[in-house]
Amino acid sequence: MAKKIPAPLYRRLEKAARTAARASYSPYSKFSVGAAILAGSGKIYTGCNVENASFGLCNCAERTAIFTAAAAGERVVQAVVVYTPTPTATSPCGACRQVINELGPTAIVISICDSNERIETTLDLLLPHAFGPSDLK
Ligand code: THU
Repeated sequence: MAKKIPAPLYRRLEKAARTAARASYSPYSKFSVGAAILAGSGKIYTGCNVENASFGLCNCAERTAIFTAAAAGERVVQAVVVYTPTPTATSPCGACRQVINELGPTAIVISICDSNERIETTLDLLLPHAFGPSDLK
């Protein structure tokens, strides 16, 4: 089950996601996204979307953050905060939901933006009946 995030830790994650969006490389979509991951160790990892002239190779902020955490040795995602500088909150895309599922099948997923709108849910609600590691056993 997803653990509730204490308020001070949540504020750190939110700030980290907002800061990460500033590094967004999105010359094609002009849509900046920042993500912050709370990993199993308790450390926070961040990422932004990184686009490519070959459009299909664009990488979302959530996946950048999770791959950074995994490359640092993390194997658990407890929570994901996604920030977009928009009036409405944006949920992770389908590809990112699948990637979050690998290390955080019950992770808390929070989307924030530049208004008070906020989506707080869990990965199992965003990706029911997911294909995951146990299907390969
Ligand atoms: N994007 C993300 O970074 N995360 C999402 O969950 C949805 C979309 C990025 C990909 C692309 O660089 C831009 O937003 C427009 O789709």
